[in-house]
Order: sequence, then C-alpha cells, then structure tokens
Amino acid sequence: MQEFNESQFFVETEVPQDELIISRTDLQGHISYANETFCEISGYTLGELLGKKHSLVRHPDMPSSVFTDLWSTLDKKKQWKGFVKNLRKDKGFYWVEAIVSGVYKNGVLIEYKSLRYPINYTNKLKYQILYDKMRAANKEAKRRVIYK
Ligand SMILES: Cc1cc2nc3c(=O)[nH]c(=O)nc-3n(C[C@H](O)[C@H](O)[C@H](O)COP(=O)(O)O)c2cc1C
Repeated sequence: MQEFNESQFFVETEVPQDELIISRTDLQGHISYANETFCEISGYTLGELLGKKHSLVRHPDMPSSVFTDLWSTLDKKKQWKGFVKNLRKDKGFYWVEAIVSGVYKNGVLIEYKSLRYPINYTNKLKYQILYDKMRAANKEAKRRVIYK
C-alpha cells in the first residue's frame, strides 16, 4: 500500500463551477453509477468505484452524526441536503454541497442518487469549523492537520 504523509491532507481539489458530481447507490450505499466528474475529482477510476461502499470517499473530518442524519432523512423518504468534505484517493480533499434522494420506479424505492455542487470559500470555512466542533463534542477524531 502506498504511504502518505500528513501534508497531503492540505491539498484541495476544486469542483469546477459548471460541473456536477453525480453518483447512485444501491439501498445499502454501494456505488452503482458515477459520472466522469466524480472520477476526476475523487481520483478514482470508474472500475475502482463501482460496487464499493460510498464511505470510500468519507473524510475523517466528517462527523458521523451528519451521515446518521442523511440516512434517517432518506428512511423518511425525504431529500437530504448538506455540506460534505470528501477524501480523494490520494488523501487530498474536496468540498461539495450534496443533494441525496431516493430513486423510485412505479412507486418502489430502487436506489439512491446524489448530485453535488461546488461551494464557496465562506461555506468551506464555516463547515470546517462547525464539523471540528461537532467531532470534538462527540469525542470523535481530531483534525488530521493541526494549524499552529
Ligand atoms: C447516494 C448516496 C451518496 C453518498 N455520498 C457520500 C459521499 O459523497 N461521501 C460520504 O462520505 N458519504 C456519502 N454517503 C454516505 C455513506 O453511505 C456513509 O453513510 C458515510 O460515508 C459514513 O460511512 P461510515 O459510517 O461507514 O463510515 C452517501 C450515501 C448515499 C445513499
């Protein structure tokens, strides 16, 4: 396995303003579709993504309660909207605003889909600080890179 040093956690990949990151999952959260932008921004090939749990791109800065909220919202058949910091294959990161919802066929839930948009600097800062506080309150992992 390739080794990474802590400084790689600093490298951000920006989602271009005119592009959308799209994926679909089965009902257990395994990736069943990813568009080209998803592959480019996450650094994975389509083959590496298909069939994997979506938590493959989970960043350690994300509080687990955000995902508990996501799944309980989906269970209520509602759309979930939120700010997510994701982990690239090379351990860099990218921020998105995600809209996650069910895909229905003849009224039956068959999959989930997520559309992700770029977010601005103010929101990145706001959510980084909020998520740092949420993790600290729940005694979850500290930020991987400490600014001094
Ligand atoms: C359609 C869909 C898209 C998702 N997209 C992401 C994502 O981009 N990043 C992420 O960390 N989790 C995403 N999740 C949530 C993951 O399935 C998972 O709940 C989360 O990564 C926490 O995983 P863990 O509790 O196994 O660590 C998505 C779930 C669904 C249904």
